[in-house]
Amino acid sequence: MKKLKDIRPIKLEEYRLYVLNQLKLPHKEEWVELNSYTDVAEAIKRMVVRGAPLIGIVAAYGFAIGIKQFISDENLRYKSKDIYETLKNTRPTAVNLFWALDRMLNKFSLLVEKNESRESIVKELFKEAERIELEDYHANREIGGYGEVLLPKRCRVLTHCNTGALATSGWGTALGVVRSAFQNGKDIFVYVDETRPYLQGSRLTAWELLQEGIPYKIIVDSTAGFLMKRGEIDAVIVGADRITIRGDVANKIGTYTLSVLAKEHNIPFYVAAPTSTFDMDLERGDDVVIEIRDEEEVKKCGECTVAPGGSRALNLSFDITPAENITAIITEKGLITDISKERILKFFNKN
Ligand code: MRU
Repeated sequence: MKKLKDIRPIKLEEYRLYVLNQLKLPHKEEWVELNSYTDVAEAIKRMVVRGAPLIGIVAAYGFAIGIKQFISDENLRYKSKDIYETLKNTRPTAVNLFWALDRMLNKFSLLVEKNESRESIVKELFKEAERIELEDYHANREIGGYGEVLLPKRCRVLTHCNTGALATSGWGTALGVVRSAFQNGKDIFVYVDETRPYLQGSRLTAWELLQEGIPYKIIVDSTAGFLMKRGEIDAVIVGADRITIRGDVANKIGTYTLSVLAKEHNIPFYVAAPTSTFDMDLERGDDVVIEIRDEEEVKKCGECTVAPGGSRALNLSFDITPAENITAIITEKGLITDISKERILKFFNKN
């Protein structure tokens, strides 16, 4: 088994949270300390940290940091709501954010009900955030195991956005599958969609693959269809920001297009995500709130403006891939195939 590099996007030292600044990669590896819950909220909004599982983990730490800030405040319960709301209102699409924050708020309420000391509340909240981080890492490794068996011995994979160590606690979901396959000696080649406008593919996925020695080429997003037509893609693997009960998947803009192309060319289309990415309150993909980001992100490429002044741009950050276009969803508890509401409910009841 090959030894891979351990890439981690965050570190906690004595209640201090440091995050790898993803706005600066691949040019600079800069660690930023997030001192307050508002610092954490800003970092999520500006995408200093990003990726559905990671924003959930960082928000969980943000909640613990916020409670620590107000440890002596008489109205700690009231403050907890404020911290929760501020962190919740950072990005609207990835459900892992709300899942992690609900878990932290519940833990807080439980500790308060039990009349725990303020010091112990803070300690326990940091522990809970660490548990969320660790569980995510284990889930990623399991996803890698379930996913890699789907890939043939020699496989040319197409992936979109960044779903690796940088988007999670440190292994990855879709890119975690690639990592696991490579680690187990499979002959893997990755086509990396550059993923305009934030360039998660060319900046972040390529940065990770380069360090691991996994062979890859970056392509502009519009190359995918032609590569499929020429028979140069064996499988598409993407991550998810939210999966509804009927199996529709919200993910980085461009994912839907890839799913249609894969269907047209008879190429398996896999979605890899932990069960914390399922939104069991939502049935249809059309009901997922799609984040619309600043127009400037589209009108620029890095620091360079690439559109005439006065142009308007539409910056939809995510799209919805219908369940019908997905071959399988790979979770830490196994695979879901022939995706439907019934299959997903059965899967969750069994697990
Ligand atoms: O806007 P981002 O970079 O946070 O979007 C990330 C994605 O869309 C990923 O594909 C998804 O979160 C899965 S990450 C394991």
